[in-house]
Amino acid sequence: MLTKSLTLCCLLALVLPTLAEVGWWRTAQFYQIYPRSFKDSDGDGVGDLNGITQQLAYLKEIGTTATWLSPIFTSPMADFGYDVADFYDIDPLFGNMEDFEKLLERAKQLDIKIILDFVPNHSSDECDWFIRSAAGEEEYKDFYVWHTGKVVNGIRQPPTNWISVFRGSQWTWHEGRQAYYLHQFLAKQPDLNYRNPKVVEAMKDVLRFWLRKGVYGFRIDAVPHVFEVAPDSNGDWPDEPRNEYVSDPEDYSYLDHIYTTNQPETIDLVYQFRQVIEEIDQELGGDDRVLLTEAYAPLDVLMQYYGNSTHNGSQIPFNFELLSNINFNSDAYHYSELLHNWLDNMPADKVANWVLGNHDQSRIGTRLGADRIDATNMLLLTLPGISVNYQGEEIGMEDVWISWEDTVDPQACQSNQQEFERLTRDPVRTPFQWSDEEFAGFTNGSSTWLPVSDKYKLVNVKRERGIALSHLNIYKQLRALRDEPTLKQGDVTVNAIGPNVLAFKRSLAGHKSYITVININDDVESVNLDSVFTELSSQLSYVVVNDKSARRKNDVTYANSVLLMPKEAIVLSTI
Ligand code: NOJ
Ligand code: MG
Repeated sequence: MLTKSLTLCCLLALVLPTLAEVGWWRTAQFYQIYPRSFKDSDGDGVGDLNGITQQLAYLKEIGTTATWLSPIFTSPMADFGYDVADFYDIDPLFGNMEDFEKLLERAKQLDIKIILDFVPNHSSDECDWFIRSAAGEEEYKDFYVWHTGKVVNGIRQPPTNWISVFRGSQWTWHEGRQAYYLHQFLAKQPDLNYRNPKVVEAMKDVLRFWLRKGVYGFRIDAVPHVFEVAPDSNGDWPDEPRNEYVSDPEDYSYLDHIYTTNQPETIDLVYQFRQVIEEIDQELGGDDRVLLTEAYAPLDVLMQYYGNSTHNGSQIPFNFELLSNINFNSDAYHYSELLHNWLDNMPADKVANWVLGNHDQSRIGTRLGADRIDATNMLLLTLPGISVNYQGEEIGMEDVWISWEDTVDPQACQSNQQEFERLTRDPVRTPFQWSDEEFAGFTNGSSTWLPVSDKYKLVNVKRERGIALSHLNIYKQLRALRDEPTLKQGDVTVNAIGPNVLAFKRSLAGHKSYITVININDDVESVNLDSVFTELSSQLSYVVVNDKSARRKNDVTYANSVLLMPKEAIVLSTI
Protein backbone atom coordinates (compact mmCIF):
# COMPACT_ATOMS: atom_id res chain seq x y z
CA MET A 1 0.00 0.00 0.00
CA LEU A 2 2.74 2.37 1.06
CA THR A 3 4.79 1.61 -2.05
CA LYS A 4 1.70 2.10 -4.16
CA SER A 5 0.98 5.57 -2.80
CA LEU A 6 4.65 6.46 -3.01
CA THR A 7 4.66 5.47 -6.67
CA LEU A 8 1.52 7.52 -7.21
CA CYS A 9 3.17 10.51 -5.52
CA CYS A 10 6.27 10.17 -7.67
CA LEU A 11 4.14 9.92 -10.79
CA LEU A 12 2.17 12.98 -9.80
CA ALA A 13 5.37 14.84 -9.07
CA LEU A 14 6.51 14.02 -12.56
CA VAL A 15 3.39 15.13 -14.32
CA LEU A 16 2.16 17.97 -12.16
CA PRO A 17 4.43 20.97 -12.00
CA THR A 18 4.69 22.41 -8.50
CA LEU A 19 3.11 25.80 -7.86
CA ALA A 20 6.54 27.43 -7.95
CA GLU A 21 7.31 25.97 -11.36
CA VAL A 22 4.22 27.40 -12.97
CA GLY A 23 5.13 30.92 -12.16
CA TRP A 24 6.79 31.81 -8.86
CA TRP A 25 7.32 35.23 -10.44
CA ARG A 26 3.60 36.00 -10.85
CA THR A 27 3.27 37.33 -7.31
CA ALA A 28 6.96 37.90 -6.59
CA GLN A 29 8.72 40.71 -4.79
CA PHE A 30 11.73 41.80 -6.80
CA TYR A 31 14.39 43.86 -5.07
CA GLN A 32 16.92 45.86 -7.07
CA ILE A 33 20.43 45.94 -5.66
CA TYR A 34 22.83 48.59 -6.89
CA PRO A 35 25.99 46.65 -5.96
CA ARG A 36 28.32 49.64 -5.63
CA SER A 37 26.12 50.99 -2.87
CA PHE A 38 24.61 48.03 -1.03
CA LYS A 39 27.33 46.73 1.28
CA ASP A 40 31.13 46.99 1.19
CA SER A 41 32.93 43.97 2.61
CA ASP A 42 36.56 44.89 1.93
CA GLY A 43 36.79 48.49 3.10
CA ASP A 44 37.45 50.14 -0.26
CA GLY A 45 34.31 52.24 0.00
CA VAL A 46 32.55 50.48 -2.89
CA GLY A 47 29.97 47.75 -2.36
CA ASP A 48 30.79 44.24 -3.55
CA LEU A 49 29.50 40.69 -4.00
CA ASN A 50 30.65 39.44 -0.60
CA GLY A 51 28.82 42.39 0.91
CA ILE A 52 25.62 41.30 -0.84
CA THR A 53 26.13 37.70 0.34
CA GLN A 54 26.52 38.94 3.93
CA GLN A 55 23.26 40.83 3.72
CA LEU A 56 21.06 38.34 1.88
CA ALA A 57 19.38 37.50 5.18
CA TYR A 58 18.04 41.07 5.20
CA LEU A 59 16.43 40.49 1.83
CA LYS A 60 14.81 37.41 3.32
CA GLU A 61 13.67 39.41 6.34
CA ILE A 62 11.72 41.77 4.09
CA GLY A 63 10.26 38.91 2.08
CA THR A 64 12.19 39.23 -1.17
CA THR A 65 11.59 36.55 -3.79
CA ALA A 66 14.27 37.56 -6.27
CA THR A 67 16.89 40.26 -6.50
CA TRP A 68 18.23 41.89 -9.65
CA LEU A 69 21.73 43.21 -9.50
CA SER A 70 22.84 46.18 -11.56
CA PRO A 71 25.88 45.12 -13.66
CA ILE A 72 28.71 43.30 -11.89
CA PHE A 73 30.77 42.50 -15.01
CA THR A 74 34.30 43.62 -15.93
CA SER A 75 34.07 47.30 -16.76
CA PRO A 76 36.10 50.50 -16.83
CA MET A 77 33.08 51.98 -15.00
CA ALA A 78 32.56 54.93 -17.33
CA ASP A 79 28.83 54.40 -16.69
CA PHE A 80 29.37 52.47 -13.44
CA GLY A 81 29.12 49.03 -15.00
CA TYR A 82 26.66 49.77 -17.82
CA ASP A 83 29.76 49.72 -20.01
CA VAL A 84 30.69 46.05 -20.06
CA ALA A 85 34.21 45.08 -21.17
CA ASP A 86 33.81 41.32 -20.59
CA PHE A 87 30.30 39.88 -20.59
CA TYR A 88 31.66 36.64 -19.10
CA ASP A 89 33.54 37.84 -16.03
CA ILE A 90 33.11 39.71 -12.75
CA ASP A 91 34.79 43.07 -12.20
CA PRO A 92 37.53 42.80 -9.54
CA LEU A 93 35.96 45.76 -7.74
CA PHE A 94 32.99 43.50 -6.97
CA GLY A 95 34.96 40.27 -6.43
CA ASN A 96 35.52 37.25 -8.63
CA MET A 97 33.65 34.28 -10.06
CA GLU A 98 34.13 32.30 -6.87
CA ASP A 99 32.49 35.09 -4.88
CA PHE A 100 29.62 35.09 -7.33
CA GLU A 101 29.21 31.32 -6.96
CA LYS A 102 29.15 31.73 -3.17
CA LEU A 103 26.49 34.39 -3.55
CA LEU A 104 24.40 32.01 -5.68
CA GLU A 105 24.87 29.24 -3.12
CA ARG A 106 23.76 31.41 -0.19
CA ALA A 107 20.82 32.73 -2.21
CA LYS A 108 19.75 29.19 -2.93
CA GLN A 109 19.85 28.30 0.78
CA LEU A 110 17.61 31.28 1.49
CA ASP A 111 15.36 30.61 -1.48
CA ILE A 112 16.11 33.96 -3.11
CA LYS A 113 16.58 34.00 -6.86
CA ILE A 114 19.41 35.98 -8.44
CA ILE A 115 18.67 37.99 -11.59
CA LEU A 116 21.45 39.72 -13.53
CA ASP A 117 21.47 42.91 -15.56
CA PHE A 118 21.98 42.19 -19.24
CA VAL A 119 23.17 45.15 -21.32
CA PRO A 120 22.60 44.19 -24.97
CA ASN A 121 22.64 47.61 -26.62
CA HIS A 122 26.31 48.39 -26.16
CA SER A 123 29.60 47.21 -24.73
CA SER A 124 32.53 49.18 -23.41
CA ASP A 125 35.00 50.49 -25.98
CA GLU A 126 37.49 48.42 -23.97
CA CYS A 127 35.65 45.21 -24.86
CA ASP A 128 37.76 42.84 -26.93
CA TRP A 129 34.99 42.74 -29.56
CA PHE A 130 35.22 46.49 -30.08
CA ILE A 131 39.01 46.52 -30.20
CA ARG A 132 38.93 43.83 -32.89
CA SER A 133 36.12 45.55 -34.74
CA ALA A 134 38.05 48.82 -34.77
CA ALA A 135 41.06 46.94 -36.10
CA GLY A 136 38.87 45.67 -38.96
CA GLU A 137 39.27 41.98 -38.05
CA GLU A 138 37.02 40.01 -40.38
CA GLU A 139 35.02 38.20 -37.67
CA TYR A 140 34.28 41.38 -35.71
CA LYS A 141 34.36 44.12 -38.31
CA ASP A 142 30.56 44.45 -38.39
CA PHE A 143 29.97 43.83 -34.68
CA TYR A 144 29.42 47.57 -34.22
CA VAL A 145 27.82 50.29 -36.34
CA TRP A 146 30.44 52.06 -38.48
CA HIS A 147 30.20 54.74 -41.15
CA THR A 148 32.84 56.90 -42.84
CA GLY A 149 30.65 60.00 -42.53
CA LYS A 150 29.64 62.74 -44.96
CA VAL A 151 31.78 65.44 -46.43
CA VAL A 152 30.06 68.83 -46.55
CA ASN A 153 32.01 71.75 -48.05
CA GLY A 154 35.15 69.69 -47.72
CA ILE A 155 34.59 69.09 -44.01
CA ARG A 156 34.02 65.63 -42.59
CA GLN A 157 30.78 65.25 -40.62
CA PRO A 158 28.96 62.45 -38.80
CA PRO A 159 26.57 60.43 -41.00
CA THR A 160 23.42 61.70 -39.23
CA ASN A 161 22.29 64.37 -36.77
CA TRP A 162 21.49 61.75 -34.10
CA ILE A 163 22.07 62.88 -30.50
CA SER A 164 23.27 60.71 -27.63
CA VAL A 165 21.15 60.16 -24.50
CA PHE A 166 24.11 61.62 -22.61
CA ARG A 167 24.35 64.73 -24.89
CA GLY A 168 26.22 65.47 -28.09
CA SER A 169 26.53 63.46 -31.29
CA GLN A 170 25.86 59.72 -31.30
CA TRP A 171 28.88 59.38 -33.58
CA THR A 172 32.54 59.42 -32.57
CA TRP A 173 35.41 59.34 -35.06
CA HIS A 174 37.84 56.44 -34.65
CA GLU A 175 41.31 57.24 -35.98
CA GLY A 176 42.37 53.60 -36.25
CA ARG A 177 39.40 52.47 -38.30
CA GLN A 178 39.05 55.84 -40.07
CA ALA A 179 35.29 55.78 -39.51
CA TYR A 180 32.62 56.97 -37.10
CA TYR A 181 31.05 54.50 -34.67
CA LEU A 182 27.57 54.81 -33.23
CA HIS A 183 26.89 55.18 -29.51
CA GLN A 184 23.44 55.98 -28.19
CA PHE A 185 24.99 56.61 -24.77
CA LEU A 186 28.64 57.56 -23.98
CA ALA A 187 31.43 57.41 -26.56
CA LYS A 188 32.82 54.73 -24.26
CA GLN A 189 29.64 52.68 -24.89
CA PRO A 190 29.67 51.75 -28.61
CA ASP A 191 26.39 50.25 -29.87
CA LEU A 192 26.46 46.63 -30.98
CA ASN A 193 25.13 46.00 -34.49
CA TYR A 194 21.99 43.88 -34.17
CA ARG A 195 21.64 43.65 -37.94
CA ASN A 196 24.60 41.27 -37.79
CA PRO A 197 23.32 37.77 -36.88
CA LYS A 198 26.68 36.98 -35.28
CA VAL A 199 26.04 39.69 -32.68
CA VAL A 200 22.61 38.29 -31.89
CA GLU A 201 24.13 34.84 -31.44
CA ALA A 202 27.03 36.14 -29.33
CA MET A 203 24.61 37.90 -26.97
CA LYS A 204 22.36 34.84 -26.71
CA ASP A 205 25.44 32.88 -25.67
CA VAL A 206 26.00 35.37 -22.87
CA LEU A 207 22.48 34.65 -21.60
CA ARG A 208 23.06 30.90 -21.79
CA PHE A 209 26.33 31.14 -19.86
CA TRP A 210 24.83 32.90 -16.83
CA LEU A 211 21.64 30.84 -16.84
CA ARG A 212 23.71 27.67 -16.71
CA LYS A 213 25.58 29.15 -13.76
CA GLY A 214 22.31 29.34 -11.90
CA VAL A 215 20.75 32.77 -12.35
CA TYR A 216 16.98 32.90 -12.83
CA GLY A 217 16.85 35.52 -15.51
CA PHE A 218 17.74 39.03 -16.54
CA ARG A 219 16.73 42.61 -16.33
CA ILE A 220 17.42 43.80 -19.88
CA ASP A 221 18.87 47.27 -20.15
CA ALA A 222 17.83 50.06 -22.51
CA VAL A 223 15.74 47.84 -24.79
CA PRO A 224 14.24 50.61 -27.01
CA HIS A 225 17.73 51.59 -28.15
CA VAL A 226 18.89 48.22 -29.44
CA PHE A 227 17.96 48.74 -33.09
CA GLU A 228 18.34 51.78 -35.31
CA VAL A 229 16.38 52.05 -38.55
CA ALA A 230 17.85 49.92 -41.36
CA PRO A 231 20.23 51.87 -43.63
CA ASP A 232 19.14 52.57 -47.24
CA SER A 233 20.72 50.88 -50.27
CA ASN A 234 23.70 53.27 -50.07
CA GLY A 235 24.27 52.36 -46.42
CA ASP A 236 22.99 55.75 -45.19
CA TRP A 237 20.48 56.67 -42.50
CA PRO A 238 17.98 59.56 -42.33
CA ASP A 239 18.29 62.50 -39.94
CA GLU A 240 15.82 62.65 -37.06
CA PRO A 241 13.27 65.51 -36.96
CA ARG A 242 13.48 68.38 -34.46
CA ASN A 243 11.41 68.89 -31.34
CA GLU A 244 10.73 72.60 -31.67
CA TYR A 245 10.16 73.09 -27.93
CA VAL A 246 13.81 72.31 -27.14
CA SER A 247 16.48 74.83 -28.09
CA ASP A 248 19.70 73.21 -26.86
CA PRO A 249 21.10 71.27 -29.87
CA GLU A 250 23.21 69.03 -27.61
CA ASP A 251 20.22 67.90 -25.53
CA TYR A 252 18.79 64.44 -26.25
CA SER A 253 15.23 65.79 -26.41
CA TYR A 254 16.21 68.26 -29.17
CA LEU A 255 15.26 65.49 -31.64
CA ASP A 256 12.31 63.13 -31.97
CA HIS A 257 13.92 59.68 -31.90
CA ILE A 258 11.84 57.98 -34.54
CA TYR A 259 14.82 56.25 -36.17
CA THR A 260 16.88 55.28 -33.14
CA THR A 261 14.30 53.97 -30.66
CA ASN A 262 11.40 51.51 -30.63
CA GLN A 263 12.09 49.97 -34.02
CA PRO A 264 9.81 46.99 -34.73
CA GLU A 265 12.76 44.56 -34.83
CA THR A 266 13.28 45.18 -31.11
CA ILE A 267 10.06 43.37 -30.20
CA ASP A 268 11.15 40.31 -32.12
CA LEU A 269 14.54 40.36 -30.41
CA VAL A 270 12.82 40.26 -27.00
CA TYR A 271 10.87 37.22 -28.20
CA GLN A 272 14.13 35.61 -29.30
CA PHE A 273 15.70 36.24 -25.90
CA ARG A 274 12.65 34.63 -24.29
CA GLN A 275 13.20 31.58 -26.51
CA VAL A 276 16.70 31.27 -25.10
CA ILE A 277 15.26 31.41 -21.59
CA GLU A 278 12.78 28.66 -22.43
CA GLU A 279 15.46 26.57 -24.10
CA ILE A 280 17.40 26.66 -20.80
CA ASP A 281 14.21 25.94 -18.83
CA GLN A 282 14.00 22.77 -20.91
CA GLU A 283 17.65 21.94 -20.51
CA LEU A 284 17.95 22.50 -16.77
CA GLY A 285 14.37 22.11 -15.52
CA GLY A 286 13.40 23.64 -12.18
CA ASP A 287 11.62 26.94 -11.68
CA ASP A 288 10.84 29.31 -14.56
CA ARG A 289 13.48 31.76 -15.63
CA VAL A 290 12.31 35.31 -16.32
CA LEU A 291 12.94 38.46 -18.33
CA LEU A 292 12.36 41.93 -16.94
CA THR A 293 12.66 44.55 -19.66
CA GLU A 294 13.64 48.17 -19.12
CA ALA A 295 11.89 50.34 -21.67
CA TYR A 296 10.66 53.90 -21.35
CA ALA A 297 8.31 53.48 -24.31
CA PRO A 298 4.67 54.07 -25.30
CA LEU A 299 2.17 51.72 -23.65
CA ASP A 300 1.19 49.98 -26.88
CA VAL A 301 4.84 49.08 -27.48
CA LEU A 302 5.28 47.82 -23.91
CA MET A 303 2.23 45.61 -24.25
CA GLN A 304 3.83 43.99 -27.31
CA TYR A 305 6.85 43.05 -25.17
CA TYR A 306 4.58 40.69 -23.25
CA GLY A 307 4.20 38.53 -26.37
CA ASN A 308 1.33 37.56 -28.62
CA SER A 309 -0.58 34.47 -29.67
CA THR A 310 2.46 32.95 -31.34
CA HIS A 311 5.37 34.25 -29.28
CA ASN A 312 6.18 34.59 -25.60
CA GLY A 313 7.94 37.79 -24.64
CA SER A 314 9.14 39.41 -21.46
CA GLN A 315 7.13 38.26 -18.43
CA ILE A 316 7.84 41.62 -16.80
CA PRO A 317 7.94 44.64 -19.12
CA PHE A 318 8.66 47.24 -16.45
CA ASN A 319 5.59 49.35 -15.73
CA PHE A 320 6.94 52.88 -15.33
CA GLU A 321 3.50 54.55 -15.53
CA LEU A 322 3.62 55.82 -11.94
CA LEU A 323 7.38 56.29 -11.82
CA SER A 324 7.42 58.48 -14.93
CA ASN A 325 4.22 60.45 -14.48
CA ILE A 326 3.35 60.99 -10.84
CA ASN A 327 4.63 64.19 -9.32
CA PHE A 328 4.29 66.09 -6.07
CA ASN A 329 1.01 67.70 -7.18
CA SER A 330 -0.72 64.70 -8.76
CA ASP A 331 -4.26 64.18 -7.55
CA ALA A 332 -6.13 60.93 -6.97
CA TYR A 333 -7.69 61.04 -10.47
CA HIS A 334 -4.21 61.10 -11.95
CA TYR A 335 -3.05 58.13 -9.84
CA SER A 336 -6.19 56.21 -10.74
CA GLU A 337 -5.77 56.93 -14.45
CA LEU A 338 -2.17 55.67 -14.40
CA LEU A 339 -3.10 52.47 -12.59
CA HIS A 340 -5.91 51.89 -15.10
CA ASN A 341 -3.54 52.52 -18.00
CA TRP A 342 -1.67 49.34 -17.20
CA LEU A 343 -4.49 47.20 -15.86
CA ASP A 344 -6.87 47.97 -18.73
CA ASN A 345 -4.37 47.61 -21.56
CA MET A 346 -2.55 44.48 -20.46
CA PRO A 347 -3.19 41.31 -22.49
CA ALA A 348 -5.70 39.09 -20.69
CA ASP A 349 -3.43 36.28 -19.55
CA LYS A 350 -0.52 38.46 -18.42
CA VAL A 351 0.59 39.71 -15.01
CA ALA A 352 0.86 43.36 -13.94
CA ASN A 353 4.01 44.74 -12.37
CA TRP A 354 4.67 47.93 -10.44
CA VAL A 355 7.97 49.80 -10.37
CA LEU A 356 8.31 52.90 -8.24
CA GLY A 357 12.04 53.49 -8.18
CA ASN A 358 15.40 52.57 -9.62
CA HIS A 359 18.99 53.78 -9.75
CA ASP A 360 18.15 56.33 -12.47
CA GLN A 361 15.21 58.11 -10.82
CA SER A 362 14.79 60.45 -7.89
CA ARG A 363 13.62 58.63 -4.76
CA ILE A 364 9.96 58.59 -3.67
CA GLY A 365 10.63 60.54 -0.47
CA THR A 366 12.17 63.35 -2.50
CA ARG A 367 9.91 63.19 -5.55
CA LEU A 368 6.59 62.92 -3.71
CA GLY A 369 7.55 63.95 -0.18
CA ALA A 370 8.69 61.93 2.83
CA ASP A 371 5.14 61.71 4.18
CA ARG A 372 4.03 59.78 1.10
CA ILE A 373 6.59 56.97 1.43
CA ASP A 374 4.29 54.47 3.18
CA ALA A 375 1.41 55.29 0.86
CA THR A 376 3.58 54.51 -2.12
CA ASN A 377 4.87 51.26 -0.63
CA MET A 378 1.23 50.39 0.00
CA LEU A 379 0.47 50.83 -3.69
CA LEU A 380 3.50 48.77 -4.63
CA LEU A 381 2.64 45.88 -2.35
CA THR A 382 -1.16 45.67 -2.46
CA LEU A 383 -1.81 46.05 -6.18
CA PRO A 384 -2.10 42.75 -8.08
CA GLY A 385 0.95 41.05 -9.55
CA ILE A 386 4.63 41.77 -9.19
CA SER A 387 6.35 44.42 -7.09
CA VAL A 388 9.77 45.79 -7.98
CA ASN A 389 11.47 47.73 -5.20
CA TYR A 390 14.70 49.72 -5.40
CA GLN A 391 17.10 49.29 -2.49
CA GLY A 392 16.46 51.74 0.33
CA GLU A 393 12.89 52.68 -0.63
CA GLU A 394 11.67 50.25 2.04
CA ILE A 395 13.38 52.32 4.75
CA GLY A 396 12.48 55.65 3.16
CA MET A 397 15.90 56.77 1.96
CA GLU A 398 15.82 60.16 0.24
CA ASP A 399 18.01 61.75 -2.45
CA VAL A 400 21.30 63.10 -1.18
CA TRP A 401 22.40 66.45 -2.56
CA ILE A 402 25.91 66.22 -4.06
CA SER A 403 27.89 69.22 -5.26
CA TRP A 404 29.04 69.68 -8.87
CA GLU A 405 32.64 69.09 -7.70
CA ASP A 406 31.73 65.72 -6.17
CA THR A 407 29.38 64.59 -8.96
CA VAL A 408 30.55 61.44 -10.78
CA ASP A 409 27.53 60.34 -12.84
CA PRO A 410 28.47 60.71 -16.53
CA GLN A 411 24.96 61.87 -17.44
CA ALA A 412 25.58 64.92 -15.23
CA CYS A 413 29.31 65.31 -15.88
CA GLN A 414 28.64 65.60 -19.64
CA SER A 415 26.51 68.68 -18.90
CA ASN A 416 27.52 71.74 -16.88
CA GLN A 417 27.32 73.33 -13.46
CA GLN A 418 23.99 74.99 -14.28
CA GLU A 419 22.21 71.87 -15.43
CA PHE A 420 23.76 68.94 -13.63
CA GLU A 421 21.17 68.81 -10.82
CA ARG A 422 18.41 68.03 -13.31
CA LEU A 423 20.46 65.19 -14.80
CA THR A 424 22.51 63.66 -12.01
CA ARG A 425 21.66 60.19 -10.75
CA ASP A 426 24.25 60.21 -7.95
CA PRO A 427 21.71 61.35 -5.31
CA VAL A 428 19.79 58.05 -5.58
CA ARG A 429 22.90 55.88 -5.62
CA THR A 430 24.37 56.75 -2.23
CA PRO A 431 25.38 54.01 0.25
CA PHE A 432 22.62 51.95 1.79
CA GLN A 433 21.85 52.93 5.38
CA TRP A 434 22.23 49.86 7.59
CA SER A 435 22.76 51.39 11.02
CA ASP A 436 23.73 54.46 13.03
CA GLU A 437 27.42 53.49 12.95
CA GLU A 438 29.97 55.46 10.96
CA PHE A 439 29.17 55.50 7.21
CA ALA A 440 25.76 54.06 8.13
CA GLY A 441 27.38 50.64 8.57
CA PHE A 442 27.96 50.44 4.82
CA THR A 443 31.76 50.08 5.07
CA ASN A 444 34.55 49.57 7.60
CA GLY A 445 36.81 51.68 5.41
CA SER A 446 37.59 55.36 5.73
CA SER A 447 35.58 56.76 2.80
CA THR A 448 32.71 55.92 0.47
CA TRP A 449 32.48 56.38 -3.29
CA LEU A 450 29.47 58.67 -2.86
CA PRO A 451 28.65 60.49 0.37
CA VAL A 452 26.39 58.87 2.95
CA SER A 453 23.12 60.70 3.63
CA ASP A 454 23.32 62.94 6.69
CA LYS A 455 19.93 61.52 7.70
CA TYR A 456 21.40 58.07 8.29
CA LYS A 457 21.18 58.24 12.09
CA LEU A 458 17.40 58.43 11.81
CA VAL A 459 16.85 56.49 8.62
CA ASN A 460 18.51 53.08 8.88
CA VAL A 461 17.55 49.42 9.09
CA LYS A 462 18.72 48.89 12.66
CA ARG A 463 16.65 51.74 14.09
CA GLU A 464 13.58 51.12 11.95
CA ARG A 465 13.44 47.50 13.05
CA GLY A 466 12.63 48.78 16.53
CA ILE A 467 9.93 51.34 15.67
CA ALA A 468 6.43 49.92 15.31
CA LEU A 469 5.27 52.19 12.49
CA SER A 470 8.59 52.80 10.76
CA HIS A 471 8.67 52.63 6.97
CA LEU A 472 10.49 49.31 7.27
CA ASN A 473 7.94 47.72 9.58
CA ILE A 474 5.01 48.93 7.52
CA TYR A 475 6.74 47.50 4.45
CA LYS A 476 7.16 44.16 6.24
CA GLN A 477 3.49 44.10 7.31
CA LEU A 478 2.39 44.81 3.75
CA ARG A 479 4.68 42.11 2.48
CA ALA A 480 3.25 39.59 4.95
CA LEU A 481 -0.24 40.52 3.79
CA ARG A 482 0.69 39.56 0.25
CA ASP A 483 0.59 35.92 1.30
CA GLU A 484 -3.20 36.21 1.63
CA PRO A 485 -4.99 34.47 -1.25
CA THR A 486 -6.94 37.66 -2.03
CA LEU A 487 -3.78 39.65 -2.53
CA LYS A 488 -2.14 36.89 -4.52
CA GLN A 489 -4.97 36.03 -6.87
CA GLY A 490 -7.76 38.52 -6.33
CA ASP A 491 -9.23 41.05 -8.74
CA VAL A 492 -8.78 44.76 -8.36
CA THR A 493 -11.13 47.73 -8.68
CA VAL A 494 -9.46 51.14 -8.65
CA ASN A 495 -11.27 54.42 -7.87
CA ALA A 496 -10.51 58.01 -7.04
CA ILE A 497 -12.92 59.32 -4.39
CA GLY A 498 -12.62 63.01 -5.12
CA PRO A 499 -9.26 64.61 -5.88
CA ASN A 500 -7.59 63.64 -2.61
CA VAL A 501 -8.38 59.99 -1.98
CA LEU A 502 -7.28 56.97 -3.97
CA ALA A 503 -8.86 53.64 -3.09
CA PHE A 504 -8.72 50.17 -4.54
CA LYS A 505 -10.37 46.96 -3.56
CA ARG A 506 -8.91 43.49 -3.95
CA SER A 507 -11.45 40.67 -3.90
CA LEU A 508 -11.55 36.92 -4.34
CA ALA A 509 -14.63 34.72 -4.09
CA GLY A 510 -14.80 32.98 -0.73
CA HIS A 511 -12.16 35.21 0.86
CA LYS A 512 -11.97 38.51 2.67
CA SER A 513 -11.71 41.65 0.54
CA TYR A 514 -8.96 44.17 1.18
CA ILE A 515 -9.27 47.88 0.50
CA THR A 516 -6.26 50.17 0.27
CA VAL A 517 -7.20 53.79 0.99
CA ILE A 518 -4.74 56.65 0.58
CA ASN A 519 -5.27 60.29 1.48
CA ILE A 520 -2.81 61.94 -0.86
CA ASN A 521 -3.07 65.43 0.58
CA ASP A 522 -3.34 67.42 3.80
CA ASP A 523 -7.09 67.76 4.37
CA VAL A 524 -8.94 65.54 6.80
CA GLU A 525 -11.26 63.47 4.61
CA SER A 526 -14.32 61.39 5.27
CA VAL A 527 -15.11 58.89 2.52
CA ASN A 528 -18.00 56.57 1.79
CA LEU A 529 -16.47 53.38 0.39
CA ASP A 530 -19.95 51.99 -0.35
CA SER A 531 -20.35 54.72 -2.94
CA VAL A 532 -17.57 53.26 -5.08
CA PHE A 533 -17.27 49.56 -4.15
CA THR A 534 -19.87 46.80 -4.02
CA GLU A 535 -20.11 43.93 -1.58
CA LEU A 536 -18.35 45.48 1.36
CA SER A 537 -19.35 44.45 4.89
CA SER A 538 -20.96 47.37 6.74
CA GLN A 539 -17.98 47.45 9.05
CA LEU A 540 -14.35 47.11 8.02
CA SER A 541 -11.29 46.26 10.05
CA TYR A 542 -7.94 48.10 9.99
CA VAL A 543 -5.21 45.72 8.81
CA VAL A 544 -2.31 48.12 8.16
CA VAL A 545 -2.07 51.74 9.32
CA ASN A 546 0.69 54.33 8.96
CA ASP A 547 2.02 56.82 11.47
CA LYS A 548 -0.53 59.44 10.37
CA SER A 549 -3.44 57.24 11.45
CA ALA A 550 -5.50 57.99 14.53
CA ARG A 551 -6.70 54.38 14.42
CA ARG A 552 -4.83 51.19 15.19
CA LYS A 553 -4.59 47.78 13.66
CA ASN A 554 -7.74 45.69 14.36
CA ASP A 555 -9.91 48.78 15.05
CA VAL A 556 -13.15 48.82 13.07
CA THR A 557 -14.86 51.53 11.05
CA TYR A 558 -18.11 51.85 9.12
CA ALA A 559 -17.51 51.44 5.40
CA ASN A 560 -19.74 54.41 4.63
CA SER A 561 -17.72 56.85 6.74
CA VAL A 562 -14.01 56.22 6.87
CA LEU A 563 -12.20 59.14 8.42
CA LEU A 564 -8.74 59.82 7.03
CA MET A 565 -6.07 62.02 8.57
CA PRO A 566 -3.74 64.06 6.30
CA LYS A 567 -1.51 61.69 4.26
CA GLU A 568 -3.00 58.71 6.05
CA ALA A 569 -2.61 55.42 4.17
CA ILE A 570 -4.37 52.27 5.33
CA VAL A 571 -5.41 48.80 4.34
CA LEU A 572 -8.85 47.70 5.55
CA SER A 573 -10.49 44.31 5.28
CA THR A 574 -14.05 43.08 5.23
CA ILE A 575 -15.14 41.33 8.40
C1 NOJ B 1 19.73 52.31 -18.40
C2 NOJ B 1 20.43 52.14 -17.10
O1 NOJ B 1 19.48 51.93 -16.09
C3 NOJ B 1 21.28 53.36 -16.89
O2 NOJ B 1 21.81 53.42 -15.59
C4 NOJ B 1 22.35 53.37 -17.93
O3 NOJ B 1 23.10 54.55 -17.84
C5 NOJ B 1 21.77 53.28 -19.35
N1 NOJ B 1 20.71 52.32 -19.45
C6 NOJ B 1 22.83 52.90 -20.34
O4 NOJ B 1 23.19 51.55 -20.20
MG1 MG C 1 34.42 46.86 -1.74
